[in-house]
Amino acid sequence: MLSYGGDWNPEQWPEEVWREDVALMREAGVTLVSVGVFSWSWLEPRPGVFTFDWLDRALDLLHGAGVRANLATPTASPPPWFSREHPDALPVTADGVRLTHGSRDTYCVAAPAYRHAAARIADALAHRYADHPALAMWHVHNEYGTGCHCDHAAQAFRRWLRRRYHDDLAALNEAWGTAFWSQRYASWEEIAPPRATQYLPNPHQLLDFRRYLSDELLAACCEQRDLLRAAAPAVPVTTNFAVADWVPVDHRRWAEELDLVAIDAYPQGAGPEAEEQTAFLADLARHWAGGGSWLLMEQAPAVLHQDRVPVATAPGRLARLSLSHVARGSRGAMFFQWRASAAGAEQYHAAMVPHAGPDTRVFREVCALGASLPRLAEVGGPVRAAAAVAWHAPSGWALQHPHLPSPAPDYGAAVRRCHAALWRAGVTCDFADLAAGADALAGYRLLLVPAHYLADEAVVRSVRDYVAAGGSLVVWYFSGVADAHGRVRLGGYPGAFREVLGVRVTEFAPLPPGETVALTGGGTARVWRERVTLAGAEAVTWYADGLLAGLPAVTRHRFGDGEAWYVSCDLDDASYEALLARVTSAAGVAPEAPAAPSGVEVVRRCGAAADWLFVLNHTGHAATVPVPGGGTELWHGAAVTDAVTVPAGEAAVVRTAPDAGAGARSTSSDRGL
Ligand code: GAL
Repeated sequence: MLSYGGDWNPEQWPEEVWREDVALMREAGVTLVSVGVFSWSWLEPRPGVFTFDWLDRALDLLHGAGVRANLATPTASPPPWFSREHPDALPVTADGVRLTHGSRDTYCVAAPAYRHAAARIADALAHRYADHPALAMWHVHNEYGTGCHCDHAAQAFRRWLRRRYHDDLAALNEAWGTAFWSQRYASWEEIAPPRATQYLPNPHQLLDFRRYLSDELLAACCEQRDLLRAAAPAVPVTTNFAVADWVPVDHRRWAEELDLVAIDAYPQGAGPEAEEQTAFLADLARHWAGGGSWLLMEQAPAVLHQDRVPVATAPGRLARLSLSHVARGSRGAMFFQWRASAAGAEQYHAAMVPHAGPDTRVFREVCALGASLPRLAEVGGPVRAAAAVAWHAPSGWALQHPHLPSPAPDYGAAVRRCHAALWRAGVTCDFADLAAGADALAGYRLLLVPAHYLADEAVVRSVRDYVAAGGSLVVWYFSGVADAHGRVRLGGYPGAFREVLGVRVTEFAPLPPGETVALTGGGTARVWRERVTLAGAEAVTWYADGLLAGLPAVTRHRFGDGEAWYVSCDLDDASYEALLARVTSAAGVAPEAPAAPSGVEVVRRCGAAADWLFVLNHTGHAATVPVPGGGTELWHGAAVTDAVTVPAGEAAVVRTAPDAGAGARSTSSDRGL
């Protein structure tokens, strides 16, 4: 059964509203709600004094209505008494400003008082509700990601560094390049978080601090997980991942510690960019889940503009984007939030029950989606993808350093561009961890590597072995330039991938804003350019004018049984897409439904005895997509002979015979639930 529901905040409402809520949940087909996410001051109004009676009643009410609870630990929002008693646990910015109570997430995760208080409330909840029949899963905290630069953080950072460098200060000095600007450390006590400083900070220190934060936050999460598991061993534990540049969390590593990957997805914009972003976030979630299923924990039931205030959306979008997540492996569609808050910082945030109440277009769409989702209960199995895009959170962190060759790629933008180009071409892709080894990559015909700035020896080996064994690889500039510490790999760029690419770059030659240079074949390069020397590769495209006229811009290298392409410049959109069309076709990677009209997304999930074809019509007119062999359309319940027609803005899900085509992934690591 797919989960359906949203964040329910009974503490914001009188109890008569709870009863109406639960009746409306039944009407809407809600199966699961997230409860208590920000309820710490209601559960523990004074230190160590718990008031569970209201939560008892709320959970009993849910249980009576057959709705299950995704019960949260409320540790993302410590109560006022906590901040007053422990001012040292309030977070300090890099500029040295200590933040005050008044919003949420105001704590230092390394402060002992915070960890102690968080463990106490988590443990109390665990014991109180371990056997409650409504309990379906634990939701630890909310969107981990808060950083701090205080003295507690400094101590924890030093402890982390001592572990990372095996107590070898010389190794840290070497990794951080402290010979530069007289930064050599003679004792661990001299090391601090990267606080505001006079001029450029040390990039290796910044990178290690982001890694430390990810690990420290994870340790806090695992402390709670262990308490919850000890009280309720059979109940899965998750936390909702936020995906944004400010989040110092290596989700791939975190996923190993959780029973279920859950994400919050807030695409921006009302047009196709939101549909692409939805696919991007869902594909990332599946990557973190090891190719298995995961859960969409939050999305907004309306478009949000920059400040997350709702604006009207086209009818059908709510269901269509929800199905985009299910198509890519989500076990359900959850929202933030159930009922729109009357007051508080997010009082104008969209909700399943808007301020105007249930007699609204949004609630009617919520009910329609809830009525239809159970028809997809049979859907399962891996998503078919023959191509993969490399994902590497630490490269994104390293590329945030302010003094890289300018303008260094924006990691998120570079990866999204690559994913979006495949999406527009109708090609479903996975994300991949290059360090996972050539065996993990072997199922892909094509591997795309944008802005993978850092590469250690494991990455070098697995990429080389992947291509040697017949894989096709495309690497974009500024990948493999540095080692895992961010130290430049010497002898020519892109150090880590030089051998497999058969090139040696001797100079960066970025272009000033607005300037372009012509390429052979009619395209242009902008922003970035490099002086490429061939070392086994052949040139496919050359710079046609400017400083590098006549030199290679895009190259191809036959290596072992595969081939490796290098793109040394920022291609204009048409050339970028033309290049991807060329490499996908050379690698034998086809769109899932080559005849699908533009704007119609088709994704295949492969079960043991059947496949399910998700057809999402993002256009404003009906669209027909061939379904060879026919099948049954589950969403509306109709037989399909050889094609399915989907009305404007709607979606269809066709059960069809298994297709043995390329890219079917055979592994899935479903756990929990
Ligand atoms: C999420 C967060 C929710 C709510 C929502 C608003 O990131 O987890 O608590 O703030 O954003 O869009």
